[in-house]
Amino acid sequence: MKVKTAVIPIAGKGTRFLPATKQIPKEMIPIVDKPMVHYVVEEAVEAGIEQIVFVTSTGKEQIENYFDRNCELESFLLQNGKEELYEKIKSIGQMTEVITVRQKEQLGLGHAIACAAPIVGHDPFAVLLGDDIVLSEKPVIKQLCEVHENYQSGTVIGVMEVDRKETDKYGIISGSVLDGDPKTYTMDSMVEKPKPSEAPTCLATPGRYILNPDIFQALSEIPKGAGGEYQLTDAINLLAKDGGVYAHIFDGDRFDAGNIPGYLRATVEFALRSSEFRSDMEKIIVEKFSEIRKS
Ligand code: UTP
Repeated sequence: MKVKTAVIPIAGKGTRFLPATKQIPKEMIPIVDKPMVHYVVEEAVEAGIEQIVFVTSTGKEQIENYFDRNCELESFLLQNGKEELYEKIKSIGQMTEVITVRQKEQLGLGHAIACAAPIVGHDPFAVLLGDDIVLSEKPVIKQLCEVHENYQSGTVIGVMEVDRKETDKYGIISGSVLDGDPKTYTMDSMVEKPKPSEAPTCLATPGRYILNPDIFQALSEIPKGAGGEYQLTDAINLLAKDGGVYAHIFDGDRFDAGNIPGYLRATVEFALRSSEFRSDMEKIIVEKFSEIRKS
């Protein structure tokens, strides 16, 4: 069944970006010239997703507004001869259908996904984290949709190989690789942040999933987990006990823009990949590098 809906949870408090997030939603902080959530929505739209469900909270209204039309700004740009910018701004408001649902208390990612249940209904859906960006030729969520279609599976988790020294920063899966499909695994379980010596694999789970509505039942059964929050990982582990959960190593470069070092890396990398800003960023890097070497 074609995946038409994507849930993007954006209700978190973004404490790692304080004080900026005292007033600006973390997901609206720009990387070069677009807010981070723009890249995430773009990925979903390019994958053929038709409807975005934002799970939001107080103070996140700017995100909804960003994906709406702004006719006043559009007329201003047109009247002032800025056709190219006009087209760019208009296209953001026409990118996709947006629905929002509120998460009234920030009780964790699992709880945020559960808030989308009344809108998602009975069909499989995608989940993309609003501060996790992946640059790839084929959108990652499309890569996962293909696995979902090939194996008639309800649940597919995007995974990436990480250095064994880093397993304690991620959710890590255990499972068995499929015959004839070396990038896809049947998943037995997921462990949160295992020590390198205890990690069952080096396959980490950043924020990309295809889920079946049976996840909502699992979410209603789990107790609070790590950090006193309802964890999506715990609900997926519950489903994995009955089999039918797949993990797929996706192609693409992933940036965790939800923390400051990851955000800084994303900014440099995206500027270097931009035809407009590449030479500026190169100049900055070269100048700074020679300054640092001299000091
Ligand atoms: P994070 O843990 O990275 O976001 O969750 P956070 O809680 O906003 O960040 P810090 O730790 O306080 O700095 C990943 C994504 O899940 C959403 C966040 O908005 C983010 O996009 N999220 C998290 C929710 O929607 N609800 C929650 O209860 C928790």
